Amino acid sequence: MKIFTDPIELQKHCLSWRNQGLTIGLVPTMGFLHDGHLSLIDMARASCDKLVVTLFVNPTQFGENEDLGNYPSDFDGDCAKAKAHGADLIFAPAPDAMYAPDHATWVTVPSLGTHLCGASRPVHFRGVCTVVTKLFQLVQPTTAVFGQKDWQQLAILRRMVRDLNIPVEIIGHPIVREADGLALSSRNAYLTESERAAAPAIRQGLLRLAEKIREGERDGHKATEFLTNEYASTLPMGTVDYIELVTPDSIEPVTTITSPVLAAVAIHLGKARLIDNILIEV
Ligand code: PAJ
Repeated sequence: MKIFTDPIELQKHCLSWRNQGLTIGLVPTMGFLHDGHLSLIDMARASCDKLVVTLFVNPTQFGENEDLGNYPSDFDGDCAKAKAHGADLIFAPAPDAMYAPDHATWVTVPSLGTHLCGASRPVHFRGVCTVVTKLFQLVQPTTAVFGQKDWQQLAILRRMVRDLNIPVEIIGHPIVREADGLALSSRNAYLTESERAAAPAIRQGLLRLAEKIREGERDGHKATEFLTNEYASTLPMGTVDYIELVTPDSIEPVTTITSPVLAAVAIHLGKARLIDNILIEV
């Protein structure tokens, strides 16, 4: 397995693969790999000749008061895991290798970014879209795998690829969870023992909301109110950032539930901000 830190070397290497007619799978990550990331890597591995995994804590997608400075890392552990899961190449650049001091070009998909994480993290998706576009230009992947845990990110990247005619197939991977239902996240490392014990309530609340909607609740406002009340009793140590019902593809608010709806939440639990979602068919 090769390890590259220089974007130009990466690009040369990947172009030579493409010139040999090989397909390339890409799994972009910010490192501190867990089984969720590894499932994405396995999925990409199965669909391509060469597999590139990127480890880059992208500074431009973090707001000023977010956890960029504390984001967990384990470079050697990540390389060992990626290698064991069949990666051919790791790309782990330094921030200044990815962003020139006078970097001036941004990719934005504003219409899908006004709700959910886009509302509470104003520069987040601009940073994500820009870095993912750069990674696509460097790697020239035939397929790229992203997780449904970050549903809005996946929807935005699908729209970006469609709108800009980027020749890559985007594959979405279902959310990978702990046995008790907590979605795997690098940020779970921030949780204390008691916060970790309480955290499965996030998923349980979403499941109860889905039940409520399947039983006939059609009022979007009442549905979110139901979940707010659930969390107030089951997760009193958490602070809700958002609880929203949106359309799955265009991420627009849903007031009357008439078609499949995405319920998405972000909860601050101690130092961690945890997100989760569920697609509810009606
Ligand atoms: P990161 O949070 O490291 O996640 C990398 C990929 O793993 C994303 O596609 C994310 O949705 C997926 N993922 C994380 N936890 C998951 C889980 N429990 N189940 C399924 N998939 C999961 O998302 C990012 O990094 C960044 O924004 C990035 C796309 C790399 C751009 O910087």
